[in-house]
Amino acid sequence: MKKIIAITKGDGIGPEVVEQGLKVLKTISDYTEFEFEFKEAPAGGEIYKRFGKSFPKKSFEIIKSSDALLFGAVGLPDLPPGVAEQPILRIRQGLDLYVNLRPIKLYNGLRDRCPLKDEFIGEGIDITFVRENTEGLYAFKGAVLKNDIAENLMVYTRKGCERIIKYAFEYANKRNHSKVTSVDKANLLSPSQLWRKIFHEIGADYPNIEKEDIYIDAFCQWLIRKPDAFQTVVTGNMFGDIISDEGAFLIGSLGMASSGNINPGKVSMYEPIHGSAPDIAGKGIANPIGTILSVNLMMQESFQSPEIGNEIEKAVEDALAEGRTVDIKNPKIKTLSTKEMGELISEKLKNKLKN
Ligand code: NAI
Ligand code: MG
Repeated sequence: MKKIIAITKGDGIGPEVVEQGLKVLKTISDYTEFEFEFKEAPAGGEIYKRFGKSFPKKSFEIIKSSDALLFGAVGLPDLPPGVAEQPILRIRQGLDLYVNLRPIKLYNGLRDRCPLKDEFIGEGIDITFVRENTEGLYAFKGAVLKNDIAENLMVYTRKGCERIIKYAFEYANKRNHSKVTSVDKANLLSPSQLWRKIFHEIGADYPNIEKEDIYIDAFCQWLIRKPDAFQTVVTGNMFGDIISDEGAFLIGSLGMASSGNINPGKVSMYEPIHGSAPDIAGKGIANPIGTILSVNLMMQESFQSPEIGNEIEKAVEDALAEGRTVDIKNPKIKTLSTKEMGELISEKLKNKLKN
């Protein structure tokens, strides 16, 4: 099965972690029926410095004609905020990537890296945030009005709510989740009232799945008080932005968290949730697992190959028992560089796919 994958390495640690994601993709193409062709689609601060554009037209053309995009991270500290980061929003809006999928899973080996006490971790953390990615407060530009008043509009449409909520129920169904939690602020916000109404309309088509509504403020405390109570969590753009970062740290490091910006059946973008981390760039110590687990999401969501995705996850778990990058270090386990971690995971994956 031939697939074209666009590759945006980006800035800072972006190229370092993407290199490891590529190793995993090459292992998949060596040992399965998949055959990948990689096409570079440069974007970000470095390309801006060279050519005056952070998202060259040609890069977008390459992405649009690919089957999926693996994206590192963009952002350089010596450029004004937003200049290097512009491609992210342009890709999300330009490809109508309305699903932002962010799984948060605490691997058993990393329980000691979770900031919560054992009694709060309980049965473990395995939550998938399904965040609406194209509407709400982030979709419309704010305007500074006279007398120092600034505003942004929170607009949600029936179409926008329906498609993300339906995606969340389908996702939960596929993974045998018994509950979908919707996070909103329906006690104050009209868009949340529309959202909640549609959540229950669509939920009625899934009688075997329990439906739960929680207000955003309460959810923030439940997430650290009883994280094992959640499976699939669906929410709007800004709430999802905030709670998924909170969730990401519960699994030990920002470097562990993966994401997909998805339009089902269309070109979708997979990226670690972290940024270009200028403080550690070039040192060879970045954790590549968030990127490698984003390849897992690509296999699951874009290439309908959950079996291979699951093997990637198992390879990551096995590797964590033998080696750690600095951000998740454990005195009893060998410390590895970015490259060594990528190689170890690819080796584990190779052995699984060969059998
Ligand atoms: P960041 O995520 O780059 O770094 C935050 C902290 O986490 C730093 O201490 C960093 O060293 C650490 N960290 C991040 N990824 C890591 C990894 N894989 N392994 C080990 N440690 C890791 O966030 P920050 O510093 O706020 O942003 C840096 C730049 O990245 C900014 O220009 C920002 O706009 C951009 N950014 C880009 C994103 C993207 O391309 N999707 C997402 C978030 C930020
Ligand atoms: Mg964010």
